[in-house]
Amino acid sequence: MASSTGFLLLAMASPLLLLNTTNAEEVVSSGSEEFPPDQDALWAWLQDKVQRLEILEAMNDKLGKHILQQQLNIEEKTRSGGDSGIKAERTEMDGLKSYYAGTLSIGHIHNHPDFPRTLGLGELHPVLNGVDFRTRHNDYSLVMPSTTSSAYHATQDVPFPEIPPQVSSKESVDEQIAEMREWFKAWRDSDHSVRDYRPYFKPILCYLEGAWTTEPQSGFTEPFFSTRHQLDASSWDDLHQKARFESGSGIKYDSENMAFLPNKFFNGTDGKLFLAQWNYRILCHPIKATLGTQHLKAHEDLGARLSRRKTIEAFQATRGVRYSISADDEEDFYESGSLLDRLMREIPGKDNYNANLTDDFNGLTKFDSYSDHPLNAGYYHQWYKEGEKDHNQIVRRGFHDRNLFVAETTQEEIAALRVEMCETKAWNGKVVCAMTEKRVSYAIPLEIVFLTPLHAWNPYNIVYKGDASSEAGQTVVADQRSGKLTPDEALNGTNSVRYFHTPAHFFSGGDISTDVVNDTDGVMGVLDGDGKMRQVMASGVHVFLPDIVDVGSLRTRYPVMPLYDEGSMAWKEMQAVRDVLMDLEGYQQYLQYIPSAFNASFVRLVTTAPKTLVMSSATSEDAGYHHHKMSLSPRQYLALVDHKETLTIHSLLDSEHTHYHELEIRYFKDEFKILSCDGDFRCQHDHGKVLRESDDADPMV
Ligand SMILES: *[C@@H]1O[C@H](CO)[C@@H](O)[C@H](O)[C@H]1NC(C)=O
Ligand SMILES: *[C@@H]1O[C@H](CO)[C@@H](O)[C@H](O)[C@H]1NC(C)=O
Ligand SMILES: *[C@@H]1O[C@H](CO)[C@@H](O)[C@H](O)[C@H]1NC(C)=O
Ligand SMILES: *[C@@H]1O[C@H](CO)[C@@H](O)[C@H](O)[C@H]1NC(C)=O
Ligand SMILES: *[C@@H]1O[C@H](CO)[C@@H](O)[C@H](O)[C@H]1NC(C)=O
Repeated sequence: MASSTGFLLLAMASPLLLLNTTNAEEVVSSGSEEFPPDQDALWAWLQDKVQRLEILEAMNDKLGKHILQQQLNIEEKTRSGGDSGIKAERTEMDGLKSYYAGTLSIGHIHNHPDFPRTLGLGELHPVLNGVDFRTRHNDYSLVMPSTTSSAYHATQDVPFPEIPPQVSSKESVDEQIAEMREWFKAWRDSDHSVRDYRPYFKPILCYLEGAWTTEPQSGFTEPFFSTRHQLDASSWDDLHQKARFESGSGIKYDSENMAFLPNKFFNGTDGKLFLAQWNYRILCHPIKATLGTQHLKAHEDLGARLSRRKTIEAFQATRGVRYSISADDEEDFYESGSLLDRLMREIPGKDNYNANLTDDFNGLTKFDSYSDHPLNAGYYHQWYKEGEKDHNQIVRRGFHDRNLFVAETTQEEIAALRVEMCETKAWNGKVVCAMTEKRVSYAIPLEIVFLTPLHAWNPYNIVYKGDASSEAGQTVVADQRSGKLTPDEALNGTNSVRYFHTPAHFFSGGDISTDVVNDTDGVMGVLDGDGKMRQVMASGVHVFLPDIVDVGSLRTRYPVMPLYDEGSMAWKEMQAVRDVLMDLEGYQQYLQYIPSAFNASFVRLVTTAPKTLVMSSATSEDAGYHHHKMSLSPRQYLALVDHKETLTIHSLLDSEHTHYHELEIRYFKDEFKILSCDGDFRCQHDHGKVLRESDDADPMV
């Protein structure tokens, strides 16, 4: 075998040797594994193999190019249909109208405040720069990129805000509670005049980041840590197989631990194709700029609101609202960035906070759009400036995509995009080419979360024993302790999955000296450092905090995730129509015809309630005592009163009388008068000529 391989290599190295051979057909068809009988046949056999190989190689290259192009086609199709954003989520409600189908909360955001750093977020189907994917159940953690290490995916915990010294310096827990409520009030009212809440109520921006990685398909890395969910796969190939099964069959893995994360070919530095793997993660960044709740404006998502029968105001108190970020003084229009853009600019890509990359692709340096410094392209950005003179051209990444934020990186784990750029040198006419490589990741914002002093506040000095699986962590539930409100069943301290430090009285009121807590869900018994049982509640992150006495229920999570559909032409037109429809009067100058709704008689019509008129009682003896009522629609009422018309109206049947009257009525001298009754001047049974207006809107009453 060894000698024939050597022979083959030699033959391939000098294909000319093979040209005059014949009979290749015969030899090959006799079975390619058999060794050819004589030297001529051998030459022929080899020639055939080499020709086939050349054809295959050429075909392979074409196929490779075609596959690369096909991938691009699919991405471009997605890219041009919308913006980076959420495209779909698992629906759990439905009804007759298509907009009934949805979820109660945007992105399925939900509470896990019994974990110190876990934010509930369901499965999403996002699009990032044309890449469609579907996540597992996310439940992400409060972690941020490393501020010290440049290592790939090095992270650190997002710090919890400190406790105002005015709170911690108070002697008793009761006094601390009272003072802490004042800080929440100040935050609620955005009033920092007496208590400057700003250092203690810290906004963070949590974002979704995605990139093409060079991880081999046989390998596998969990996208990001979650206390509650991990992808149910042993390799990328395994994950793809399961995702195909899930999508194809329509089943749902009940663990919600499946994801569709695509792979695709890249052309490597060696000119060979390799499969890159898409991966994503969710991280948070402590915001440096000033950002308060006043910068978060609720979106009008009419379908979601109608499906829940909520007024604009009532809808705000639900988990279904999405917000957009807007500076107080921000114009409606901007052409070089928004507050969101400035916030995203604080967030580094895969090089972490040490990122320091300039981008001078094609000889043009990119500049920061807010200053004259070169852009640090290692941070997420959308707008930048460039141009040889005064770098005065404002450019937006992503063609039309309103939500695409890009950061460049040097990490080898990210697949490189490569392009050869050539230029003709003016002085000698020579063409000089150079290969440029870029590795990038993409991001979109998900949520603004306000961390509060509650996460670190522990006025009862309850011992936090760390990881629930550690030896110390396990003592929390030893002896079947479950957190019930008795010293024997109360938790013995807290751990990473039972994080209860906030005095229940803080939320519910109640009397701390007798330990009576007003009716409040989620109160746990926990032994403090001295072994005394305390009534406490979860101290992690809530979407809405439980009601705080004298303060109310405050929202701490503000979803700001954009939607893919918002980038489509149809959505833009629809949003304009909706804006007009929601404020017809404000937009009337843009209407083609002024709707009658705006004229005074229409307004009077729609603000007039239906009326009831009552005929005076019958006085004739034969019919007995009775009267008749009749209802007037607002239109009939106004025809009579405003337009002095004469109307013919039937009285309703009286409960005891099976007759009705047909009346001609007019309104004059401030009274409703009967002109004729069943064709006669007077009604039978001696009903009077004047009708009384009744306050009963319903004539049947
Ligand atoms: C990959 O890049 C090399 C140049 O680096 C090129 O020769 C080759 O044709 C490319 N392959 C495909 C499939 O485009
Ligand atoms: C980034 O790198 C440049 C040199 O490439 C250096 O002049 C600059 O000070 C660096 N910036 C930071 C913030 O480290
Ligand atoms: C609670 O746990 C500590 C160890 O962390 C232990 O010393 C103590 O005895 C426990 N208390 C009770 C009441 O079990
Ligand atoms: C809570 O209960 C206490 C009595 O136990 C009562 O005095 C107090 O007003 C209640 N607070 C609220 C907010 O209901
Ligand atoms: C006002 O609207 C009504 C319809 O509601 C229409 O019949 C009437 O002609 C309008 N009047 C004026 C002055 O436009």
